[in-house]
Formats: sequence, structure tokens, C-alpha cells
Amino acid sequence: MKFFLDTANLEEIKVAAAYGFMDGVTTNPSLMAREGLGDQVKQIEAICKVVTGPVSAEVLATDIEGMISEGRALGKIAENVVVKLPLTMQGLAATKVLAEERYKVNATLVFSALQALLAAKAGAAFVSPFVGRLDEIGVDGMGVVEDIVTIYGNYGYETEVIVASVRHPQHVLQAALIGADICTIPFKVVQQLSGHPLTDKGLAAFLADHGKVAKPASGRKKN
Ligand code: E4P
Repeated sequence: MKFFLDTANLEEIKVAAAYGFMDGVTTNPSLMAREGLGDQVKQIEAICKVVTGPVSAEVLATDIEGMISEGRALGKIAENVVVKLPLTMQGLAATKVLAEERYKVNATLVFSALQALLAAKAGAAFVSPFVGRLDEIGVDGMGVVEDIVTIYGNYGYETEVIVASVRHPQHVLQAALIGADICTIPFKVVQQLSGHPLTDKGLAAFLADHGKVAKPASGRKKN
């Protein structure tokens, strides 16, 4: 399963890149605003200098022509830029045009398997079901992901499923068990993935046991 980092923060991206398992980045207007960025172009340019995998940048227009125009501009920033379009009728129409022009589209703000089916039929390269926001209204977000993976498998759609709106490591585990292609993960959750109290406890015990028998470094008296 590929891991994308769900952030517009360049420092978080640089740190995560050092871990070696960040396969891409997803941004959205709220993540850009959190960084105080009204104009996302420069930030996307900077991110694409650090990340070679897919970098999703979201259009702000809501009309078909505006989405197409913005999508073309974003797609020209770098070859790994993916254009994010909301799953509305207008977004689907813009997806069809941009996909035919060979731009990669990430259909975002997806909350049902039927929306995801439409995204695949429109030619989206990625679809982003928002599991955390579904959970928050009492809908089983990962159940929607499971339905999407089943439907795409039934018909051989190549659209990749990005599990989005991730709130905790359980979402990452469930995404992997279901067989989603990608999970886009906030930096805070990335930091939670590796932590386990038994690992910390075990490492401390190993080092303590070694300390009991370690010979002092030559010339240094063992005190
Ligand atoms: C990713 O592409 C989405 O925009 C993001 O995961 C949404 O997360 P949120 O529900 O925390 O805003």
C-alpha cells in the first residue's frame, strides 16, 4: 500500500521524506490556508522539488470551464502534479476533459461508492473517499472504501483508491486489510504508526542487559 502525506506543510514533508516511505502528497484548500497560503502555486512548486511521487493540488473553481482552466494551470506546474476536483456533476465533466488531455485527476470529497463509480467512469486516476468525515456522521467510512474496492475489482477500473480523512492508525490498518491502493495520512498519524510501548520497553531492556556485561572502552576505568 502506498503512503501519501496529507499536508501542505513543507517541513512535515521534508521530515517524512527522510523516513523513505512517503510515496506522494495530498493537499486541499484548508491545508493550504492552515499554512497561511492563499496562492498555492508556489507551495506546490516547492513540494514538487521535494516529492517525486504524485502531488495533489485542488482547484478552487466550481464551474466546469473554471475547473478545466485551473486544472490545466495546476497540471503544468510539474509532471507529478495531480489535479484535485470535487465529486460534483461539474467536477465529473471537468474530469472527463482533463483526463482526455492526459492530466491525472484525483476525484475528492467522495462519500459514497456510487460517487466513486462515477469518478472511475469519468476517467479519474485517483478517488479519495473521506473516511474520517463519514465516521463522524455515524457512517462506516471503511465500509464505503470496501464497497469501492469491490466495485473497481468487479469491472477492472484502474482508478486508484486513496483512503483520505484519516484520523488514526486503525484507519491505516483497515485500509491495508481491505486492499486500498493508497492511504493519505496526516503527519501526526504518521508519527503514531511506528510507536509501540513494547518496542520501547524491549529496546530499553536490551540496552540495560548489554550495559551489565559491556567492557569499558579501553583506557576508560569502569566506574
Ligand atoms: C485528502 O486528500 C483530503 O483532502 C483530506 O484527507 C481531508 O481530511 P479532513 O477530513 O481531515 O479535512
